[in-house]
Amino acid sequence: MTILVTGGAGFIGANFVLDWLADGDEPVVNLDKLTYAGNLHNLDSLAGDARHVFVQGDIGDRGLLDALLAEHQPRAVLNFAAESHVDRSIHGPEDFIQTNVVGTFRLLEAVRQYWGALAAADKAAFRLLHVSTDEVYGTLAPDAPAFSESHGYEPNSPYSASKAASDHLVRAWHHTYGLPVLTTNCSNNYGPYHFPEKLIPLVIVNALAGKPLPIYGDGRQIRDWLYVRDHCSAIRRVLQAGQVGQTYNVGGWNEQANIDIVRLICRLLDELRPRADGQSYALQITHVQDRPGHDRRYAIDARKIERELGWRPAETFETGIRKTVQWYLEHPEWVANVQSGAYRDWIAQQYAD
Ligand code: NAD
Ligand code: TYD
Repeated sequence: MTILVTGGAGFIGANFVLDWLADGDEPVVNLDKLTYAGNLHNLDSLAGDARHVFVQGDIGDRGLLDALLAEHQPRAVLNFAAESHVDRSIHGPEDFIQTNVVGTFRLLEAVRQYWGALAAADKAAFRLLHVSTDEVYGTLAPDAPAFSESHGYEPNSPYSASKAASDHLVRAWHHTYGLPVLTTNCSNNYGPYHFPEKLIPLVIVNALAGKPLPIYGDGRQIRDWLYVRDHCSAIRRVLQAGQVGQTYNVGGWNEQANIDIVRLICRLLDELRPRADGQSYALQITHVQDRPGHDRRYAIDARKIERELGWRPAETFETGIRKTVQWYLEHPEWVANVQSGAYRDWIAQQYAD
């Protein structure tokens, strides 16, 4: 048996592939375009491992998809591939539409054709698992209940709108063609291999480099943070036991305001790698112009996946964020490697005064 993972060189996909192969011996075919966010160094520990087959390519390439499905005959396809950064989607939405909408459509069509030709038993066992986000639900008022699976879709950014569109396509391919799909909508992840354009790794990397720690607006926006390996265990569980056609919200029961997270990271760095001048990293905190259309609050009601599939996060925020800070302190070469010219151009454009 084999699974096909798309986007497996990115942050969550790479963590998923590493955990999958640490947990069992079922091979993984990993299809990734290697955009700026994809990094084969995330998978260095799998060098020479015959259970991991890496293919550089686009989920929008129908010919390639058909060939990979025919050759490897996967029993499941897990779709992590996406453009994932909200700020980039504001500057340039085109890539988000191409990959997240058109790419998902092409993947669905290729999988539909492949699945349709499988023998009855293989057809019944096959799954397409689509990895999505809580951002499709839009923003919450401070005292509103957390997002359940029945919350309406109200996406506010080009990123979340493109993910919402992909979720709708996945849903429709189930209802119209019977494709056996599963969808997960997860809250903000953090952990190893997180590209330092996102808040938590950006703050760690900037703090150590003596650079400003940019807080958008008042910093009181709330996200529900989940350690990435807990997200990976939730996906494995949904693949194993999720009910076809259902969606599962995945979250950490951990709502935090951005400014509190940044202050916590500063305190951890003050302890683990004190500044040479003995001052706190918190002195580097700088409030910058807010993101246009910035969602104020996300929160996930993860009771369904707990009730039906018995999944709960293993990590608390305190243990997860400490592990994460330690990982970045121990992997300066990984950070240096991803800070290419393209990364420097993005930072210069996004944080220009
Ligand atoms: P990421 O940006 O770190 O990685 C995305 C990966 O997809 C990269 O390796 C990239 O090269 C690849 N990719 C992009 N376009 C592609 C294409 N057309 N064909 C093939 N590969 C392509 O993203 P991530 O944070 O790992 O997110 C993975 C998935 O999880 C996404 O679908 C995202 O929407 C979803 N998600 C992310 C979070 C989060 O907090 N990061 C939370 C919930 C859901
Ligand atoms: P981010 O990591 O980009 O994830 P998302 O926008 O998908 O939730 O941002 C997390 C929060 O941190 C979000 O409210 C925006 C905020 N933020 C900052 O305040 N400063 C920054 O430099 C970045 C990248 C994000």
